Amino acid sequence: MTLQRKLLLGFALMVVPTLFVGVQAIRTNALERATLDALGQRLARSRTYADVEDAMFNQTQVIWRYLSGDPAAKQEFPLTEQVVDFWLDRWTSGLPPDEVKHADGVRHIEADIRAVAARVFKLHDAGQRDAAALIARRELVERLQPTLARVNREIYRQTRELSVQGAVAQMQAIVEAKRRVLWATVFLALVAGLLASWLISRDLARPLNELRHAMAVVGAGDLDHAIVPRSSDEIGELARAFAQMTEQLRQSRAHLVQSEKLASIGQMAAAVAHGLRNPLASLRAAAQLARHRVDVPAAREQLDAIVEQVDRLDARIAHLLQFSRPAPFHPLRESVRTLVEGALSGFAELLRERGIALGVSVAEALPDVRVDPLRLEQALTEIVSNALDAMPPPDGGRLEIAAHVGTGDAGAGGGGGGGGAGVVLEINDSGCGIPAEILPNLCEPFFTTRTEGTGLGLAIAKRYVEEAGGRLEIASVVGRGTTVRIWLPAASHDAAPAPEGSLA
Ligand SMILES: Nc1ncnc2c1ncn2[C@@H]1O[C@H](COP(=O)(O)OP(=O)(O)O)[C@@H](O)[C@H]1O
Ligand SMILES: [Mg+2]
Repeated sequence: MTLQRKLLLGFALMVVPTLFVGVQAIRTNALERATLDALGQRLARSRTYADVEDAMFNQTQVIWRYLSGDPAAKQEFPLTEQVVDFWLDRWTSGLPPDEVKHADGVRHIEADIRAVAARVFKLHDAGQRDAAALIARRELVERLQPTLARVNREIYRQTRELSVQGAVAQMQAIVEAKRRVLWATVFLALVAGLLASWLISRDLARPLNELRHAMAVVGAGDLDHAIVPRSSDEIGELARAFAQMTEQLRQSRAHLVQSEKLASIGQMAAAVAHGLRNPLASLRAAAQLARHRVDVPAAREQLDAIVEQVDRLDARIAHLLQFSRPAPFHPLRESVRTLVEGALSGFAELLRERGIALGVSVAEALPDVRVDPLRLEQALTEIVSNALDAMPPPDGGRLEIAAHVGTGDAGAGGGGGGGGAGVVLEINDSGCGIPAEILPNLCEPFFTTRTEGTGLGLAIAKRYVEEAGGRLEIASVVGRGTTVRIWLPAASHDAAPAPEGSLA
């Protein structure tokens, strides 16, 4: 999992309790509002009932007014009936089931009042005023009004209990539920927080600390300190990149140590070689002088041998000096054919002596190359002399040199796409070949398998090819022969043409 995802997960875990609290707040808010709405409705209904009560009281008052001699009161009575009906309908519409029985009771009383009124009006109109007053008193004052008062009491009591006390009980339940959910949320937040911090510390803090420690150790110079990336996330990638950087640093330090070592060996070798050259020259001159003065053939042979060995020593010293103190690089535009011919010119005699067949095929219309001609000829000479060493007499063999157009990609002989245009030079021998295990070491300075060798030939050749911007590769099969491939970039058109006869 990537670090980004882990962080997102951790924060999401921490946000969950907050979300919970939010959802809970919205839910309890809705419940509270519903409870308050219900309370409001019940209170409103109880106010409507007060209007019913009022209307019924007015109705009885109209009866009394008629009895006390107000003839208009009788016409008013149907009006009071309509008012009572209006308020009663309003009160009973949508009445909760627990109050329906009260509505029935009130309607019953109202029906009784109307019946009593009818009887009272009839008696009164018939002239029986006392009887009418008596019935009104007995029915209205002594029976119906106390009954109505009882029902009223019951209705107000129930309103009180159901609305106010019910609302209080409901609110208490809501608060209790809220308390439980809040405690659960606190617990959840604790668990989620611990989990998230554990996740973050495991995937962030610890690997970062390890990396910091590794950086401190590597920074203090211990490049061999092992860095093990634990995760596949960005920090793991950072650790891998750091490990890679450390490895590269280690390699380049090793390389640096190696080249410093080589440089000091080279300096020392150069100093020794230089110091040896003059005494050797004196030795050679003395031996040659003595040879002219001595007549004994055996002694002459010995002196010849001294001169020959001194020449060989001098050649080796020249090689050593060439490697440790190369002349300055002078690049010029040059044709490959001239370079090959120049390199081969010194070998004609040797080739004949050893019975080695030579085949040279240089393609027509090859681009020129930009090299230091003296050095590149030297490089080719080293390679050809190695090839000859690999094909000793009496068997000899075949030496082939080919040049064609090619590009600078891997496997320079292929001529495939990619890389810059240039020339590929192949020097192929049918000699003993090189074991695969020593192939990578061939170009190291002082690496040699020959007792007579200095191990500098290929090191010099590779250096000269590479300083001209080219590449040198060696392929070999033991028993079949060796191919040295050199790729050189083509000289750009604006490069100065080579001076005439510079290689004669
Ligand atoms: N054409 C070749 N055939 C076989 N072995 C070769 C060839 N070229 C180079 N080598 C091997 O590479 C080694 C290094 O060559 P070089 O650097 O020229 O040093 P030297 O010729 O002094 O030994 C040689 O000792 C030899 O073992
Ligand atoms: Mg050599």
